[in-house]
Amino acid sequence: MFESPVQQLETRPACWLIRYSGLRAREMPLPSPAMHPIDLSDLMAALRWRYATKSFDTGKKLAPEVFDALLDALVLAPSSFGIQPWKFIVVQDPELRAELQPASWNQPQVTEASHFVVIAARESVAAAQVDDWIAHIAKVRGVPEASLADYRGRMTGFLAAMDDGQKFAWASRQTYIALGQLMTSAALLAVDACPMEGISPPAYDQILGLPGSGYRTVVACALGYRSAQDKYALVPKSRFERTQVVEYR
Ligand SMILES: Cc1cc2nc3c(=O)[nH]c(=O)nc-3n(C[C@H](O)[C@H](O)[C@H](O)COP(=O)(O)O)c2cc1C
Repeated sequence: MFESPVQQLETRPACWLIRYSGLRAREMPLPSPAMHPIDLSDLMAALRWRYATKSFDTGKKLAPEVFDALLDALVLAPSSFGIQPWKFIVVQDPELRAELQPASWNQPQVTEASHFVVIAARESVAAAQVDDWIAHIAKVRGVPEASLADYRGRMTGFLAAMDDGQKFAWASRQTYIALGQLMTSAALLAVDACPMEGISPPAYDQILGLPGSGYRTVVACALGYRSAQDKYALVPKSRFERTQVVEYR
């Protein structure tokens, strides 16, 4: 019996929604009537609940499927032209994490958190990456690469106007979109997170063996569950009033 994509979505187990790989990208859920908004109050509660966690409970680890969903949140992050000029490095080795800590103003999150992700950006974005990306889109969508010639031309033209430093700055900006998506997704899953720019990217690059890889460290994110002793959890959120940061024209 024929099942529309929406019916297929609705009949699959919920965990399927967060499972896909690049080659199964066409199976990714599409915006459809199957999508239901969460309650506004739940969204606000998650955004108010989250805070930049300073101290993690070392005894509490993320369940594998929860971390898996957070990796998917990173992989699904949007980027300019969709080119994904990033690498997400999951630092699992406790010795590596111990090495990274002094390169992070000795912040305890690096070693205490359940998971630690370093987000690196492409040092430059060359024609080869545009080719890879075009080939990937053509494969996933089942169209000839030639049909994407205009798109390739726009991308190539955009990149040609930048030197390598500007391309790295541009790629780095994209990584913050992934970071934001990761943090919001974590909050919605009641996972604590600490975004971390208080790190030395050159030292991270050395420790993680990035020189020569084409990627450089930009930012990191610790993930896990807050320690009951973290007094920052109870500090009132300090944000400017909406009238100070929102303008209407
Ligand atoms: C890009 C970025 C880098 C940050 N780096 C650090 C960091 O290295 N260490 C830390 O404890 N907090 C860090 N923070 C957390 C901010 O200080 C925190 O988000 C801000 O004060 C607002 O507080 P809240 O997130 O707890 O609501 C960083 C936040 C962002 C967005």
